[in-house]
Amino acid sequence: MDLYEYQARDLFAAHDVPVLPGVVAETPEDAQAAAVGLGRAVVVKAQVKTGGRGKAGGVKLAPDPDAARRRASEILGLEIKGHPVRRVLVTTATEIADEYYFSYLLDRANRTFLALASLEGGVEIEETAVTNPEALVRIPIDPLTGVGAAEAERIVSAVGLPPASAEAVQRLWTTFVAEDALLVEVNPLVRDVDGAIVALDGKVTLDDNAAYRHPGHAALRDLGAADPLEAKAQARHLNYVRLDGQVGVIGNGAGLVMSTLDVVALAGADPANFLDIGGGASAEVMANALEIVLADPGVRSVLVNVFGGITACDAVADGIVRAYALLRSRGEPVDRPVVVRLDGNRADEGRKILRVAGLPRLELVDTMDGAAARAASLASEVA
Ligand SMILES: Nc1ncnc2c1ncn2[C@@H]1O[C@H](COP(=O)(O)OP(=O)(O)OP(=O)(O)O)[C@@H](O)[C@H]1O
Ligand SMILES: [Mg+2]
Repeated sequence: MDLYEYQARDLFAAHDVPVLPGVVAETPEDAQAAAVGLGRAVVVKAQVKTGGRGKAGGVKLAPDPDAARRRASEILGLEIKGHPVRRVLVTTATEIADEYYFSYLLDRANRTFLALASLEGGVEIEETAVTNPEALVRIPIDPLTGVGAAEAERIVSAVGLPPASAEAVQRLWTTFVAEDALLVEVNPLVRDVDGAIVALDGKVTLDDNAAYRHPGHAALRDLGAADPLEAKAQARHLNYVRLDGQVGVIGNGAGLVMSTLDVVALAGADPANFLDIGGGASAEVMANALEIVLADPGVRSVLVNVFGGITACDAVADGIVRAYALLRSRGEPVDRPVVVRLDGNRADEGRKILRVAGLPRLELVDTMDGAAARAASLASEVA
C-alpha cells in the first residue's frame, strides 16, 4: 500500500524524523484556516499518490492565508496524471539551503535492503539515475545489524550529506523497520538556512503482507481513492484489479489469470480486469466474482478460465450453476455472454454439468486460446 505524503509525514513524526508542521485541508477555507493557524508563509501541496506534483502545479507557495485559500482552490481542482486532488497539505514554508534525496528500499535482486541517496535531490530521481548515475549512491544495508548511529554516520559521509543528517538517516531506518515498509523515500531531504535537517516530502510503501502486525495501518487505506469496484472486491476477499477493456476475466490462480489476460490481448480484445478466485471456487465465490465483473459497464463478455486441481472442475461447474441462480435471486441475473474453459481434474464431469444446466448465453470452449478468441468475438459483436 502506497501512502499519501501527509500519512508518510505522520509516520515520520511518530518515529522522530524531523518534519514541518502541517495540516490537511479538503476545502480552500480549511486551507486558509490552516495557514492562519501555522502563522506564517505556507506551501500548499496536492495530496495524490503520484510523483511530479510540483511540475503539475500541485505545490505552491502562499505568503499569507488569503493566498493559501486561492492556491488551495486552484490545486483542489487539479487532476494530476489522472488522480483528482481531494486534499492538500498546508505546511510552513522553509528557507532551503540544500536539497538531497534519501531512501531505503528492499533490493530484491540482491536480496537485501538498500540506502539510495544523492546530493542532487528535489528533481526527479529517475532522471538523475539516467543522466548522472554517479550522483546516486547505493549502500547495501545488512538486515541483521540495520542502521545504528555508527552506520548512519558511515552512510552520511559516504554520500557527502551534512553530518547533522545522520540522526534523520537513522530514524528513517527505524521507520522503515518498525512500520514494515518496502520503501521510505524523502525527496527532498533538506538542510535549511539555519542548518536544520527536515524531511520535506515523504513517500512510503507499506508491505501488505505484514498488515496483520499493524492493525493501525488499515486506517491508512483510502477506499475513497480506489476504484469502487476494487473496494467492493476487496471487501469480499477477491483479488481483483480493474483494467479498461471489454472482456471480463475470471480464473483460478494468479499465473493462470495473468496468461489469460495475455491470450485475450492476443485474440485482439482488451481484458476488462484481473480476477483470481484462488483455490476454492464455491458458488458464493463464483457469484461474487461474476457480480463484480458484470458490475463493470465496460464488460461485454466474460471469460471464465479454470484449471482444475485440488478444486476439481465439477465443483467449479457446480459453483457456476449455483452462482447463476444466486445472482438471479439477488435480482442481478447474468445478462452478458460467458465463455467457460475447464481443463484439468474432472474437466469432463464439469463440462457435462454445465451442458445439462443449459445456462443462458453460456458457452463452453475446450481450449484456452479458443475460449479467448470466442470471448473476444462476442465482445466485439455486442459492441
Ligand atoms: N515547505 C516547503 N518550503 C519550501 N519549499 C518547499 C516546501 N515544500 C516543497 N518545497 C519545494 O517544492 C519542491 C517540490 O516539493 P515536493 O518534493 O514536496 O513535491 P514534488 O517533488 O513535486 O512531488 P513528488 O515528490 O510527488 O514528485 C521541493 O523540492 C522544494 O523545493
Ligand atoms: Mg518530492
